[in-house]
Amino acid sequence: MLKIEKLNKYFGDNHVLKDISLDIETKKTTVIIGSSGSGKSTLLRCINLLETPNSGVINLDGTELDFSKKIPGNVKKSFTKRTGMVFQSFNLFPHKTALENIIEGPVVVLKKDKKTAIDEAMELLRRVGLEDKRDSYPNQLSGGQQQRIAIARALAMKPEVLLFDEPTSALDPELGAEVLGLIKELSKEDYTIIIVTHNMSFAREVSDEVVFVEKGEILAKGSYDDLTAMHNERITQFLSYLD
Ligand SMILES: Nc1ncnc2c1ncn2[C@@H]1O[C@H](COP(=O)(O)OP(=O)(O)OP(=O)(O)O)[C@@H](O)[C@H]1O
Ligand SMILES: [Mg+2]
Repeated sequence: MLKIEKLNKYFGDNHVLKDISLDIETKKTTVIIGSSGSGKSTLLRCINLLETPNSGVINLDGTELDFSKKIPGNVKKSFTKRTGMVFQSFNLFPHKTALENIIEGPVVVLKKDKKTAIDEAMELLRRVGLEDKRDSYPNQLSGGQQQRIAIARALAMKPEVLLFDEPTSALDPELGAEVLGLIKELSKEDYTIIIVTHNMSFAREVSDEVVFVEKGEILAKGSYDDLTAMHNERITQFLSYLD
């Protein structure tokens, strides 16, 4: 279980996350929705410590980080390793091949031996349907293929929580669909997944739980159908607007 308690994040005077409390259940898929600027990306970035919250607590299966105290660098580092982030813009290393991108983390961060890392990477390449692209560089791959490599790279670290920040918004609908298909498959497996998306039909299909964030606060939480049944004007408008 990933437990977030009273998390606050400021950028200068801008209070972006306001006392966010949220339980993310293991092996479930949680979808975060809400209007632009509401703090969705910041919340994901706080979970994998790309941003440091100003206060609050994050507890991942018993490891607790209390942000009102100073957290040692090594504690942060080992916590970050337990989460894997997939970005909107893929963020692959441009000078490394698909295979090299995938083995980088396992070899450098997890200190795996190269042969094991390559064997595992090949399995992941098969998993994402890109075995034949092992020696291609990112600029030789389509956006959808790059994103599937980025997903394989995240999986290679065997993270306890997979984070996706609008994984298909940089892709045309067709390439987006192949990435969404892959995420849908992963969501049926044992992964704990948190996805930020503006794609409401995908949210409905893939989510065990939907979290609606508005101006840095959680306005509603529940299954997609729960949210629909709330008959809250703001939520109904949002769900229908983007569907
Ligand atoms: N690094 C940063 N420095 C300063 N302000 C930031 C930073 N990152 C985000 N913000 C601000 O925090 C607020 C929330 O931004 P965030 O990116 O989390 O929104 P979002 O919900 O992901 O929006 P979108 O749907 O457009 O991606 C915005 O007001 C934004 O300007
Ligand atoms: Mg965002």
